[in-house]
Amino acid sequence: MDLPVIDLMPYLAVAEELEPYGDRSKLRERLGPELSGLCSEVSRILKETGALLVKDPRCTAEDNDRFIDMMERYFESPVEFKRLQERPHLHYQVGVTPEGVEVPRSLVDEEIQEKLRAMPKEFQPATLIGPDPKWRYMWRVGPRPSKTRFQIDIFLVQELNSEPVIPEGFPEWKDTMDSWGSKMISAIEVVAAMAAIGFGLPNDSFTSLMKQGPHLLAPTGSDLRRYGQEGTVFAGYHYDLNFLTIHGRSRFPGLNIWLRNGQKVEVKVPIGCLLIQTGKQIEWLTAGDCRAGMHEVVVNNRTIEAIKLASKQHRSLWRVSSTLFAHIASDALLKPLGHFADSPLASEYPPMRAGEFVEQELAVINLKGKLGEH
Ligand SMILES: [Fe+2]
Repeated sequence: MDLPVIDLMPYLAVAEELEPYGDRSKLRERLGPELSGLCSEVSRILKETGALLVKDPRCTAEDNDRFIDMMERYFESPVEFKRLQERPHLHYQVGVTPEGVEVPRSLVDEEIQEKLRAMPKEFQPATLIGPDPKWRYMWRVGPRPSKTRFQIDIFLVQELNSEPVIPEGFPEWKDTMDSWGSKMISAIEVVAAMAAIGFGLPNDSFTSLMKQGPHLLAPTGSDLRRYGQEGTVFAGYHYDLNFLTIHGRSRFPGLNIWLRNGQKVEVKVPIGCLLIQTGKQIEWLTAGDCRAGMHEVVVNNRTIEAIKLASKQHRSLWRVSSTLFAHIASDALLKPLGHFADSPLASEYPPMRAGEFVEQELAVINLKGKLGEH
């Protein structure tokens, strides 16, 4: 199944002068039937698939290439060099996380394991044997609140007050990370506004809650030379605990998602497109109308084909994903918004601070303060 691609251009053309609209019919009138329809399409796809492919003229294939080229060069560096960027005392919230540290929740959560056993065989995720064999680099994106009571921000504020972790020999590091990170945040903000309109909420419902959120650019690196066998699981079956996750196109396929109807689908991201996935925080804000998308990354036959081609062309065999986790601000209240408060499922989503929610989720996988693949 190919997911449709939504072009953000028509919405971007009016977005700049669009003020926050509380009145739904006035907003629809201002947008016109075509743009309103496009917004409904965005929310419908997010609901049904937990994923959305978009084209944003501000995020080009060249930007994505520049970022991936740099990350490939970094992940190819010797292990001893990469470990210089490790910050375990900051719970890996910044700098590098070596392979074998991140644990997929389905490995430790019995409730999830039970659900998996009940799935039809063809839709079951790949079998896990241990922690994920992938590296990750965490880079803070955007401004932070100066005061907060939540762990996640405390770690990031500590980092803010010290030198950012930049590997030696990468003079382009800061610029490349900051520019790709802020471009992907801009794309998420547009999708968040369009989704809010599609869900029948004021256009700034989500974006106003994202301000000063603990957004993280968190690319992963998987060594396909060592772990390139079919069936190897780079990221075990899980959902993301943040609001929305965005990635540029990876040079090696392997991402599977689960649709709302339970079907398992391999995602094919066209060149120049971005992939957005729903996390647990959007599920909370919509009282489950839009669910957090389950996903996994596994070496499949298309990954093997891409490995063969890359070897022939003497290209890197590190699979880089340019993941960015966009969050609701830690001090913002996470609760079903607008008409979702009247949903029969609303009681399953009690109000709580987003920071408190994150800490609760992390406690389950015993990685308090760790915000990796969730
Ligand atoms: Fe994920």
